[in-house]
Amino acid sequence: MTILIQQPDHLGAEVDAKTEPLNERELVLDGGFLIPQTNSFGQIFRTYNDAESARHEGVENFYRKNHTYQSLDFVKKMRQEYAKLNKVEMSIWECCELLNEVVDESDPDLDEPQIEHLLQTAEAIRKDYPDEDWLHLTGLIHDLGKVLNLPTFGGLPQWAVVGDTFPVGCRFDESIVHHKYFKENPDYNNSSYNTKHGIYSEKCGLDNVMMSWGHDDYMYLVAKENNTTLPSAALFIIRYHSFYALHREGAYKHLMNDEDVENLKWLHIFNKYDLYSKSKTRIDVEKVKPYYLSLIEKVTTLETFVSSFVAVEKFFILFILRKIFF
Ligand SMILES: [Fe+2]
Ligand SMILES: [Fe+2]
Repeated sequence: MTILIQQPDHLGAEVDAKTEPLNERELVLDGGFLIPQTNSFGQIFRTYNDAESARHEGVENFYRKNHTYQSLDFVKKMRQEYAKLNKVEMSIWECCELLNEVVDESDPDLDEPQIEHLLQTAEAIRKDYPDEDWLHLTGLIHDLGKVLNLPTFGGLPQWAVVGDTFPVGCRFDESIVHHKYFKENPDYNNSSYNTKHGIYSEKCGLDNVMMSWGHDDYMYLVAKENNTTLPSAALFIIRYHSFYALHREGAYKHLMNDEDVENLKWLHIFNKYDLYSKSKTRIDVEKVKPYYLSLIEKVTTLETFVSSFVAVEKFFILFILRKIFF
């Protein structure tokens, strides 16, 4: 079954199921993935301007802090600190379960255990793309960086862990949600940082662009520092899945290189599962757990490899990914 979805013009705009294409902005969704009309609260997805929503005030306060404090200087300090990967050792599944202790205050759509979101995303992808193992795994791990919010990972505040991400070191695009709060950011009036290109150059590649700090860039760093052999599309998805200004609004494309352009196609596919799997459809964690454990156990039985790798790398989530994709 194929469903045609009209892309919303603005954040929080409604998503309409259509029976035939209307224009080139429509996204064709294949494989039987049914798009729910509402989130867990019965509201349209990514609604940031609903004054009646009890959750709205918290989300707006979140973005006030996020946009005020996420400067180029802050991002550099965070990347330097967390690139050390000296926090905790654990398996992928342990990390998934640990994530249940994190509440994402920036997300107006999600009000259930994080592990269910990971599994909803991974399972929906697995159903439509059964042969793309790397994409299942990307779905399972894409939000693991949210452990930054927990004390053992530094206990970072929500505004430094979750929410939409954006480049720093160049102009904050007006399509970014709650853009008005950037006026309090120290970079807002810095003439070196507030132009279209800022410190970057045309088509420099997003790899060379500093993104606001959060779970996306952290998980990306973990992957890179462990020399993962995940495909570049997986790393792209992990680092930019909250970069709605790019993948929803089309901003910052002048910074993309040819590889980014290719990878963006996969991110568009991934994003519909990340966003629209947050519905009332619940996942039976115990039922699907064996499939994901089998992926993990397939490599954790190689104890010699594990031991030697862990001796070098404290945080060994990515050794599992590395082994799977050798
Ligand atoms: Fe995320
Ligand atoms: Fe997610």
